[in-house]
Amino acid sequence: MKKKILVAGGTGYIGSHTTVELQQAGYDVLIIDDLSNSNIEVLDGIERITGIRPEFVQLDLKDKEGTRKALQEHPGVEGVILFAASKAVGESVQQPLKYYRNNITTLINILELMPEFNMKGIVFSSSCTVYGQPDPENLPVTENAPIKPATSPYGNTKQINEEIIRDTIHAGAPFKSIILRYFNPIGAHPTAEIGELPNGVPQNLIPYLVQTAIGIRKELSVFGDDYNTPDGSCIRDYINVVDLAKAHVVAMNRMLENKSDDKMEIFNLGTGRGVSVLELVNTFEKATGVKVPHKIVGRREGDIEQVWANPEKANNVLGWKAEESLEDTLKSAWNWQLKLRERGIQ
Ligand code: UD1
Repeated sequence: MKKKILVAGGTGYIGSHTTVELQQAGYDVLIIDDLSNSNIEVLDGIERITGIRPEFVQLDLKDKEGTRKALQEHPGVEGVILFAASKAVGESVQQPLKYYRNNITTLINILELMPEFNMKGIVFSSSCTVYGQPDPENLPVTENAPIKPATSPYGNTKQINEEIIRDTIHAGAPFKSIILRYFNPIGAHPTAEIGELPNGVPQNLIPYLVQTAIGIRKELSVFGDDYNTPDGSCIRDYINVVDLAKAHVVAMNRMLENKSDDKMEIFNLGTGRGVSVLELVNTFEKATGVKVPHKIVGRREGDIEQVWANPEKANNVLGWKAEESLEDTLKSAWNWQLKLRERGIQ
């Protein structure tokens, strides 16, 4: 019998790629998503890749009774991967209560329901944002680097979520947990059947960059060239979304197969390589042959100067490693944008 996994937020960007990897690894998937920031057609994309349509319930996970009912009607879920959350840093500053309500209520509901349904493990999507700007001696960042005060309500929800999980496990919850701290996920599935679909004007670098390359946006603004980095622009660790998705499968398998005695584990998911904004623009232009009009503007408020991962713990303990090159990853983002145009979407 195939094991069934609940992918909460499974029609979103990382959730859809993870659903594909789970199915290809032999798991059944139940997606619960309220479609507040994603599209029902994502299910078609998933099905075109794997030949399997995941079970789907459209539901806001803040609705605990509704979630309980969905789990009763779709029995047999053994583990949950929680993506469903609001994730725009700027919006979280404007609407903090939306972020606290969405991101915290959803986690509490799921943690409360897990024992009722005998679920054995939860994978939680966290973020490198919990490290803030690490001190120079802590770069690249390991999981032991200090947690810095959050600079946005969004970042704070990730810290609070991690603490809620820690306290729940500490209190003897009958399940395991793995917290994955993502660096900057980018790119799309190599088939270009699924990818990132930002609403409105993109806030993140890659969606804005590809929309500029295809002519939807006039030019990309590079936020600052006066940082203390080799070319003055900010440095991040850009990780391929399919690589990232695969880490979730390994993490889930680790809990369901009892491969570790630890009830809570934390892993950084990155490539280990820091890349500047300007380097990224150059690499995109070389990899695709397409020019990206760009100009340097002032710094973006709240931006971190430089952060990249030390992924050794994930490499050695999980046996997972980011494999895709930055060039291929950027090409996949471009192919996805071309596909969106072909379909008349963006
Ligand atoms: C941040 C958080 C991340 C969070 C994400 C959600 C950190 C280190 N990272 O990512 O945890 O999940 O927001 O949105 O806090 N840039 C431009 N021009 C643009 C857009 C971005 O130059 O139009 C630059 C930014 O200054 C930054 C880099 O590109 O240096 C990446 O930005 P973005 O894609 O927004 O991600 P982060 O801010 O790193």
